[in-house]
Amino acid sequence: MEKIKIIMDLDVGLDDAIAMCLALGNERFDVLGFTTTYGNRHVDVTTKNTLKILELLGRTDIPVARGSVRPIVAPYDPPYKSIVHGHDGLGDSANPLPEPTIKEIDISAVEFMARTLRESEEPITIVAVGPLTNVATLIMTHPELMPKVKELAIMGGSTLKGNRNPVAEANIVMDPEAAHIVFKSGLKIKMAGLDATWKGYIGFDEIEEFGNTNWLTKTIYDMLGIYIEHYRDRIKNPGLAMHDSLPLAWLLNPELVESEDLYVTVDINGRYTYGMTVTDVNRILNEKPTAQVALGVKREEFIQLIKDAMAKLAAEKK
Ligand code: RIB
Ligand code: CA
Repeated sequence: MEKIKIIMDLDVGLDDAIAMCLALGNERFDVLGFTTTYGNRHVDVTTKNTLKILELLGRTDIPVARGSVRPIVAPYDPPYKSIVHGHDGLGDSANPLPEPTIKEIDISAVEFMARTLRESEEPITIVAVGPLTNVATLIMTHPELMPKVKELAIMGGSTLKGNRNPVAEANIVMDPEAAHIVFKSGLKIKMAGLDATWKGYIGFDEIEEFGNTNWLTKTIYDMLGIYIEHYRDRIKNPGLAMHDSLPLAWLLNPELVESEDLYVTVDINGRYTYGMTVTDVNRILNEKPTAQVALGVKREEFIQLIKDAMAKLAAEKK
């Protein structure tokens, strides 16, 4: 089966790290590189975390390019009040991963995306699971390369409920202007938002078994203490949302995701709704759809994809 060539833009964070495992552990993906952004933590931290995870997985062959340090317009005041991912961005584990011995390459995230798109024979899929600043900058500075973007699969947004404020999802609201540019770009977009990602969880009754499966799931499990508390005790979700893995799973198997083609735009000047993905679920505006919007997921099959990818990686690097 044809490989899916991807560049993945992320703000490692815990669910980003698990998504890296899915991207690198499923042989259908050809990961051309990772680009980093501020988001869950400062871009210095998210870049270092990306390098740490690559060394953990024995995949130091994959390039990492450092990206945006801040949003285009929105205020950005690290460290965030929300420490869902811990101060170190990987759960402040009692057994933290070692400092990386590898470094990011010496061109920026956007330059790496542009060079990779330019040099590729065929269009490439961009998977973005953090704020969309890097992607928006690519769109603004390289319109000539847009035909080389096969599609953009993002984790972000929601049709109504938010997680960073009552109506806005974290990745979108950290840079609403960037997200607005993305949704106006005309690119083919898969929007894996909270409507589906909150349902794509590892249950609290499953997480121990997950942790006991192999050395890699144990290493990840040891990072998840804060994340478990957040999802079990604060937002009372039925399990640990695997947000950033969903766009990847959707690319692997579209049947896993219930979705609709809908008009989505981003509010960039609302007092209470700044950063909301305004989604025309009832098709009132009669506008051309701007995204495939995920509304549900076949949870068990989705989580199995993650487990299988991690089992493959664990076997490859004892
Ligand atoms: O809202 C969830 C998103 O915000 C995920 O990408 C998570 O990693 C954080 O970046
Ligand atoms: Ca993320």
